[in-house]
Amino acid sequence: MDLKLKGKSIIVTGGASNVGRAIVLGFAAEGCNVAIADIDTKQGERVRKECDELKAGGRAIVVPCDVTDWESVQSMAKKVNDEFGKIDVLVNNAGGTVNKFFVETPRSDWERDINLNLWGTINCTRAVLDYMMPAKSGNVINISSDGGRTGDPTQVVYGATKAGVISMVKSLSKELTQRYGIRFNAISPGFTPPVDYEKSVGEKSWFVPGGELEQAIGALTPERLEKSVKFGGYVTGRLGRPEDIANAVLFFASDAVCSHIAGQTLSVSGGYSMIG
Ligand SMILES: NC(=O)c1ccc[n+]([C@@H]2O[C@H](COP(=O)([O-])OP(=O)(O)OC[C@H]3O[C@@H](n4cnc5c(N)ncnc54)[C@H](O)[C@@H]3O)[C@@H](O)[C@H]2O)c1
Repeated sequence: MDLKLKGKSIIVTGGASNVGRAIVLGFAAEGCNVAIADIDTKQGERVRKECDELKAGGRAIVVPCDVTDWESVQSMAKKVNDEFGKIDVLVNNAGGTVNKFFVETPRSDWERDINLNLWGTINCTRAVLDYMMPAKSGNVINISSDGGRTGDPTQVVYGATKAGVISMVKSLSKELTQRYGIRFNAISPGFTPPVDYEKSVGEKSWFVPGGELEQAIGALTPERLEKSVKFGGYVTGRLGRPEDIANAVLFFASDAVCSHIAGQTLSVSGGYSMIG
């Protein structure tokens, strides 16, 4: 299937680590120009080099960006437009949480979740529309979470933010798709731990060994991951891999194969959530 993505200009927020990295590499392999918009520029540079090694014809750049900061986001979008001449696709991927039970969660964690997952998506979407609307084309893909679709313990406020980014793609589609040719869709991953920590996890990743997440829930040992598969309802018999999410993102981003799909959410989670 030819996705006809070659030469497209792509922004992936949080593109330096785990899922974001796989999305960046997926677009780079299709010959796209990809901007890795991340607070972790050191890990971003590593991913940029991996893109270069693919020699697929596109260019990758690292653009320092804090998605929670409106000015930083505006300047990121301008920089990408200046470098690549247009913005075809935004993937709102930067996000995450530290799993804690609701009544044990400090308010500062809720505020961080809302800022990162919801405000980050609002900021980046608003900024790229200044370029996509005059061009009368574009694609925005929000990375949600099955925690926002089915509800999960320890993900109360995070889940609410991820339900929020699902709601955004529906309302934005109804406001803008027909008038401006911009499509909005969401991907909802299930548990997708890093496959290769050495290569794919940055210092700012939730999955960094010894980090805040590990302190909250303990280490993700192979035995523990195996248990998650066994009791977690993953009918495919495995957990998610970052490439699984990337493949679905590339599909949604392709006007060649996906032009009649708008305002949808696709769970890529091995059947963890099955929504009719
Ligand atoms: N991995 C999973 O199990 C899983 C499951 C469901 C949903 N998701 C969603 O997938 C997305 C990616 O998750 P991941 O596992 O790759 O996370 P990750 O923590 O490994 O990577 C997140 C990236 O975002 C960057 N980042 C953090 N704050 C930022 C900010 N303010 N501005 C810009 N960049 C920032 C980090 O530097 C890092 O590179 C998130 O939206 C997450 O909620 C992940």
